[in-house]
This record gives sequence, structure tokens and C-alpha cells, in this order.
Amino acid sequence: MSSKATNVQTAHEIHLAARPTGEPEPSNFTLVETEIPDLVDGQVLVRNTWMSVDPYMRGRMNDAESYIAPFQLGSALEGSAVGEVIASTSADVPVGASVSHFAGWRSHAVLDAASAVVIDTSIARPQDYLGALGTTGLTAYAALTDTTPVREGDVVFVSAAAGAVGSVAGQLARKFGAATVIGSAGGPEKAKRVVEDFGFDAAIDYRAGSVADQLAEIAPDGIDLYVDNVGGDHLEAAIEALRVNGRIAGIGMISGYNATGPVPGPPDFFRAYGKRLTIRGMLVSDHFHLFPEYISKAAGWLADGSLRTSETVVDGLENAPEAFLGVLRGANIGKMLVRL
Ligand SMILES: NC(=O)c1ccc[n+]([C@@H]2O[C@H](COP(=O)([O-])OP(=O)(O)OC[C@H]3O[C@@H](n4cnc5c(N)ncnc54)[C@H](OP(=O)(O)O)[C@@H]3O)[C@@H](O)[C@H]2O)c1
Repeated sequence: MSSKATNVQTAHEIHLAARPTGEPEPSNFTLVETEIPDLVDGQVLVRNTWMSVDPYMRGRMNDAESYIAPFQLGSALEGSAVGEVIASTSADVPVGASVSHFAGWRSHAVLDAASAVVIDTSIARPQDYLGALGTTGLTAYAALTDTTPVREGDVVFVSAAAGAVGSVAGQLARKFGAATVIGSAGGPEKAKRVVEDFGFDAAIDYRAGSVADQLAEIAPDGIDLYVDNVGGDHLEAAIEALRVNGRIAGIGMISGYNATGPVPGPPDFFRAYGKRLTIRGMLVSDHFHLFPEYISKAAGWLADGSLRTSETVVDGLENAPEAFLGVLRGANIGKMLVRL
């Protein structure tokens, strides 16, 4: 079957136009029209309906060695997306199936059927598979069940707590036995939402004053587990607040992603040794085998209301770069999504 059977001839893609120095700008991206190729055996044509923009994509804009290859200049960016199959030469992934895949940043994607995962839209909305049921939710789940499991009675501190990973992490920490869950977010409105919408016990507005001072006030007896999404001043404050034998789940360090030089570490890192802290980094891709188990649990939690999510939605592929720049600046509450 030819993809042309769908009458869809052209697609739009966002390409990397130039590598940024420091904070990316709209001029780093360009919208390109392309012709959709005919399908060969075993391929599907997907009309993308939602795509994800994620902080890790900033690292892929650099021409630097990392755990994932850099984006290529003049080529389409990539990332998680969901969509509907509109043409198929695969019996496994028929026309009409809803799928998730990694060819985001484009209106249509031609994929080997094996690269498309059929998603069950009877248990959750398609866009949930990019947020609470996607890699962001799985990141929080894997961090708190495997990297540094939550222990009964823990005092847990989560940075970027109004964001996609952080908002899920705080709620899962509570589910898995934490006694107290404290979040940090930028601005009073976000701090309020962290408590009221996501059920944290308390939240710090890190823009309003020192993280260390505010954390010491809220948790005068210290914390047991720090879920690090931010690094920098948050990591420094957490090392100060952690009790002896405390743990850190090293998920991300967004405060340094736009840095143009080496990012300084905590000035008194020896404190971490003296307190015998465990600092364990994680990459969600090491935990993809947990997806079936996680999705079935998390779909139930979404349905019974015990896992609450929020989204910030930007409309249109042409606005995807702005959505991405927004996530780096904190324009989102919950998961930042682009509706295509
Ligand atoms: N290890 C893994 O496999 C893995 C997987 C997914 C995500 N991550 C990491 O997890 C973190 C959160 O990712 P996400 O997708 O859930 O994004 P997100 O939290 O939804 O969005 C990023 C948030 O970071 C905050 N932020 C930006 N600059 C900051 C700064 N200088 N200091 C403090 N906060 C800052 C902003 O919120 P405020 O307005 O509150 O500042 C922004 O909303 C990132 O570090 C990401 O790289 C890691």
C-alpha cells in the first residue's frame, strides 16, 4: 500500500537550524515542508497528534558526547510523540491504531511498525502517554522504586515539583510511604499548586529566597531523600538538609543546561561524605522494561484520582520551539505538550 492512498502528500518538520550558545532562541529552529515517501513493507504512516518537549533536548542541541546522540544540523529533531496510523503495510499496526513513538517534531512520521507502540486509549488519553504514563512518569516511578526506593516515614524533598517528573514524584513518594513531601518551584503560584493540586505537604518558592534557609525552616530535623531535577543551589541545600545516610536520586540538573562553561559543584561537597550519603544517578531508558507494570498501575491511579496531573498545552507544530524554550524557562505547570 502506498502512503499516497491517504491523500496526504506533504509533512511539516522542525529542523535544527543552528546550535545555540547558552539559552536557545527561535532562530535555532526552522519549519520545513517535506514530501512523504511511499511506505515500504512493514512501515506505517502516523499523523502525529501530540508531541513532547523535554529539558534533555537542550543537551542534544550541542555537538557534544552524551548518553544520547546530538541532533543533526539541517535534520528533523526527534522526541516522544503520539498519533494515529493513517496508512500501514503492517498487519501488527493497522490503520486507525493509536501509537506512541520517537519521531516527534513533525506532523507525520513514516516508521517501521516495530518502532511504534500501540497504546490503549480506553484506559487513558493519548497525551497521557507523553506525561504521567510516559517517560516522565516512568522516570519518577523508577527513581522511587529502584534508584533510591522510598522508605516508610521518609521526609522527601523534590525539586522542579510543579513540573512533569517532579509533580508525579511527590505523589508517588507519598504513595510509597513517605511521611512528609516537600516541593520546590519557581514563583508563588506554582508553589501553591504544588500543595493544592499535587498534594505536597509544603512547597518552597525558590525565587523568593534561599532554598537552604526555606528548607531548614520547613524541615528543621532534616530530610531523608532528595529527588534532584535541578542541581545547583537545590543540590547544595539538600546536602545540607540530608540526615546521616540520606539518599539522593539524581534525575536531572536543569539549572545548568544552558551553561556555557563548567557548572560549579556544591562548595562543601565533603559534607556528603561525612553524612555517608548515597547519590545515585538514573536514566529512564535503563528502566523501560518497567513500562507495562508502571502503565497498568498508573492508569489505575489516574482513573481513581490518586495521581493528579496537569498540562500546559501549546498549539501547532510551528509553536513547538516556543514550547520547548518555555519548558527551560519554567513556563509550564505539569507536562509541557504540543498539540498538533
Ligand atoms: N534521568 C532521566 O532519565 C530523566 C528523564 C526525564 C527528565 N529528566 C530530568 O528531570 C528534570 C525535570 O524534567 P521534566 O521533563 O519533568 O521538566 P519539567 O519539570 O516539567 O520542566 C522543567 C522545569 O524546570 C524548572 N527550572 C528551570 N530552570 C530552573 C532553575 N534554574 N532552577 C530551578 N528550577 C528550574 C522550571 O520550573 P520552575 O518554574 O519551578 O523553575 C521548569 O518548569 C530535568 O532536569 C530533566 O532533564 C531526567
